[in-house]
Amino acid sequence: MKAKLAKLSSFFVALSISHSAIAETFKFDTDVSEKSDTLVVFKNDTKPTGFTKFDKKSEGQLTRALSANKFDGSYNSFVEVLAPNKLSYNRVLIVGTGDKALTKPELTKLGGNIAAQLTGKHISDVSIAAKHFDTNQASLLAHGINLRSYNFDKYKKEKHQGKTYTFSVKDTSATLSAYAKLEHIQSGIFLARDLTNEAPTELTPVDFVTEAKKLKKLGVEIKVLKPKQIKKLGMNALEAVGRGSIDGSRLVVAHYEGSNDAPIAIAGKGITFDSGGIQIKTAEHIVRMKSDMAGAAAALGTIKALAAMDAKVNVVAVMGLAENMVSEKSFIPGDVLTTAEGLTVEITNTDAEGRLVLADSMWYVRENFEPSVLVDIATLTGGKYRALGTKLGGIFSEDEQLVKEFTYAGKSVNEPVWRLPLGYKEMLESPIADLRNTGKGGPSATTAATFLQQFVGETPWLHIDIAGNALAASPSGEVPVGGTGFGVRLLTEWILNHHEAK
Ligand code: BES
Ligand code: MN
Ligand code: ZN
Repeated sequence: MKAKLAKLSSFFVALSISHSAIAETFKFDTDVSEKSDTLVVFKNDTKPTGFTKFDKKSEGQLTRALSANKFDGSYNSFVEVLAPNKLSYNRVLIVGTGDKALTKPELTKLGGNIAAQLTGKHISDVSIAAKHFDTNQASLLAHGINLRSYNFDKYKKEKHQGKTYTFSVKDTSATLSAYAKLEHIQSGIFLARDLTNEAPTELTPVDFVTEAKKLKKLGVEIKVLKPKQIKKLGMNALEAVGRGSIDGSRLVVAHYEGSNDAPIAIAGKGITFDSGGIQIKTAEHIVRMKSDMAGAAAALGTIKALAAMDAKVNVVAVMGLAENMVSEKSFIPGDVLTTAEGLTVEITNTDAEGRLVLADSMWYVRENFEPSVLVDIATLTGGKYRALGTKLGGIFSEDEQLVKEFTYAGKSVNEPVWRLPLGYKEMLESPIADLRNTGKGGPSATTAATFLQQFVGETPWLHIDIAGNALAASPSGEVPVGGTGFGVRLLTEWILNHHEAK
C-alpha cells in the first residue's frame, strides 16, 4: 500500500515539475524566464555563469554596479541593481560565490542568505540563473532558500507571502528528484519548528500526542502511554515530572520500520513548558521555556523525514512528555523517586527535570526494542549553552566511532556539534538514594550527561545537549528566527550515513 502511494506521488511530481512546500514554490526549468520580477545571477572569477549574458544585455550596467560597490565576488557578497537597463526585471541580485567549489553546507547557507536578501521587497517571482551548478548544488540552494523562508505566522495578522523560485538548470528532472529528498527532510524540520514555536498552552503533552499521531499516514506506528500505564511500568521519574500539570505525563513511541535491521533509537526530551517546578525559574530564564520540548520535536521530525522519503532504515523515537509545573501535586525537593531502571533518585532540584523523563524513556526503548544504538537529544542544561553557545550542539559519548560520525554529519548539514566530557560521577552521590538529580556545582552539562549514562545499560549511546540551539533570537543563513528544528538535519544525515556504512 505504502509503495503504491509513493509511486503515485512520484508520478505526480514528474507531471508537474514543480514542488510547492509550505509557502514557497520551486520550479526547475531549462531557461531563465524573462517574466519574473527578480533575477538572481552568480558571479565568480573562475567559472562562466549567466552573468556575462545579462551584463551584455544591460550594456554593462551590472559590471558598473559591481565596481561602484567594490564587489570582489567573494562568497556571500551581494549587489542589488534596481530597474536594470534593457532587462525586463525590476531587480537583479548579483551573488558572489568565491573562487572555490562550494560545499554542501556553504550552498545551503548561501541559499538562506539569498532568501534573506529578497525578503520584504514586493517580490513574488524569482528567476535563478543556476545552469553552471550541478544537480545537487542547485537543489541545495533551493533547500537553503526554503529553510530560511519558513515563517510561523499563525498568530500574525499579516501572513507570509510565498514566492515562486524558478531555477534554470541543466537537467530538470534530476534536479527535481535531488530536491525531492531534501524536501522530505524539510518537512521534518518544519514539523520540529512548528512544535517548538507553538505557544505552550497550545502544545501540552496531549497536543504533542495529537501531532505525533498525524505521522500514522506515513506508515509510522504510534504508541502512547498515559500516567497510569507509565506508573504501572515503574517509570516513576517520568510520571513525577508531569504530576503537577493538568495533562500529566505521556510517553510517545514513534516507530518507522523501513528495514529489518535492529532499530536505531532516539530519545527526546519533551518538556512542553519548564517552569522549573517548585524551584521555579527567574523571569529572565522562564520566558524561553516553551522550547524545552525541542529534543522530542527533533526526534519526531527525524521520523517524519525518514518516513516521508521511504528510507530503508529501522528507527524508533521515544519521547518523554511532561509539563513541569507548580501545584500542590508537584514533585518536591527531597522526594526520592524510583526509576524503571531500578535506581532511586533524590530530587535536589525540580528544575533538573529533563534527565528524569529521559532516564525512564531510555529504559523503555532499551527494554522494548533492544536498539543497536541509542541517541538522546535534549535542551538539557544552561551549562551547555554557556560552554558552546547557540551554534554548536554538545555531544557526550564514550563511543569514539559515534563521536566521529556525529561530528562529521553535523559539519555537512550546518548543525555542528562539539564533544564535551562525561565524568564527575561522584558529584551525583546522595546520602539517601542511588543518585541525586543534580551535581554539586561545576560542570552541569557533564553531570547531567553522566546522570543519563546510568540509564543506558550496555547499549552504545550518545547524548546531544541542544540547550541554546533550539530557539533562535535572530535569523542567520538558512535558519529563521524562532524554532530552528536543530537536530533533524543532524540525526537524519547521521542515520542515513550510519546505515550506508554498515
Ligand atoms: N530546560 C533547562 C535547560 C535550558 C537552559 C534549556 C537554557 C535551554 C536554555 C533545564 O531543565 C534546566 O533547568 N537545567 C538546569 C539544571 C540545574 C538545575 C542543575 C540548568 O542547567 O540550569
Ligand atoms: Mn529545568
Ligand atoms: Zn528543562
